[in-house]
Amino acid sequence: MMSFLKVGCNFIPKIQAQAVCCSHGNVQQQWTRGKRTVAVLGAAGGIGQPLGLLMKLNPLVSDLRLFDIAGTPGVACDISHVNTQAMVAGYAGDAELEKALKGCHLVIIPAGVPRKPGMTRDDLFNINAGIVKSLCLGIAKHCPKALVNIISNPVNSTVPIAAEVFKKAGTYDPKRLFGVTTLDVVRARTFYAVRMKVPVKEVDLPVVGGHAGITILPVFSQVKPKKQMSAADIDALTKRTQDGGTEVVQAKAGKGSATLSMAYAGALFAEACLKGLEGAKGVVECAYVESKVVPGISFFSSKVRLGPNGAEEIMGLGDLSDYEKKALEAMKKELIGSIKKGVDFAKS
Ligand SMILES: NC(=O)c1ccc[n+]([C@@H]2O[C@H](COP(=O)([O-])OP(=O)(O)OC[C@H]3O[C@@H](n4cnc5c(N)ncnc54)[C@H](O)[C@@H]3O)[C@@H](O)[C@H]2O)c1
Repeated sequence: MMSFLKVGCNFIPKIQAQAVCCSHGNVQQQWTRGKRTVAVLGAAGGIGQPLGLLMKLNPLVSDLRLFDIAGTPGVACDISHVNTQAMVAGYAGDAELEKALKGCHLVIIPAGVPRKPGMTRDDLFNINAGIVKSLCLGIAKHCPKALVNIISNPVNSTVPIAAEVFKKAGTYDPKRLFGVTTLDVVRARTFYAVRMKVPVKEVDLPVVGGHAGITILPVFSQVKPKKQMSAADIDALTKRTQDGGTEVVQAKAGKGSATLSMAYAGALFAEACLKGLEGAKGVVECAYVESKVVPGISFFSSKVRLGPNGAEEIMGLGDLSDYEKKALEAMKKELIGSIKKGVDFAKS
């Protein structure tokens, strides 16, 4: 008779479990490298599945928990066959949230509904606000010290919602809560590299503000390597970055929003958080965090230095061009309104 081994909530045949654990040559060395437990909430979705796969490839991860309302045992089984060290377990439904979260160092949240053509990120508010709120209640209870990466839109509001939930639970640490805006950075770097004909690997470019329309501001005046850009180029690349999400929503024609590029961006940011936890030096990424960088705007995305406690330093904006200063002014009202909407929802 076949015997079974319990991996998280999954009972898998013992022979398969051994294959998961020992399918590569230097098992011992690989096994001792990663020591971090990471959960993906919304792991059966368009972003969650490839993001789960990318986290399985990350050598810093020892335990990968895949949670969703349904479908995660299958996703976890599939990903668990990849011959990298992280142990993978799937958890489905509210009753299993505690097991998914207990002991996590990092929780990534892509749970929620994506946009359809004609919708703004704000149109998702009514559904996703409630999802983020309930998942954050679980985090406050089961892994209050974890770093939290929020992908669910509208990020400009869902991050303030998470902050309020954690404040109410008495667990809020602003250093540990991040809205993931890395996709804006990834897009801006790609668009710049193609337009200005520079190797994309060399491009360094901050994107600040928020994560919706005009609140997204690529700071081309600080781009490296620096090429002479015309005003028309700056305007075109700024607008394309701001509309990057809509470009994908329209191209997918009703079948969702960015998933693969978002999973890549989410994995990049998660890796930066994990490296920071490990004490790596000089880990800097843009992220949407509680901030004093722009007076009157309580959450803002700018460069953040990541370390063992999360956001160790929130960096200022540096010098901005006149175009960027104008764009910063133009985004303020929308960003402040989105933050207030999130705070009001969480308090209601
Ligand atoms: N931050 C960004 O740059 C960015 C980019 C693209 C998409 N997004 C957002 O990410 C979210 C997910 O997008 P997607 O394309 O993966 O959507 P999707 O519908 O394919 O997947 C979402 C998953 O969340 C799950 N889910 C719903 N409620 C849940 C709950 N209470 N607990 C756990 N899981 C739950 C669903 O079952 C589904 O599997 C959307 O809000 C989307 O707008 C953010």
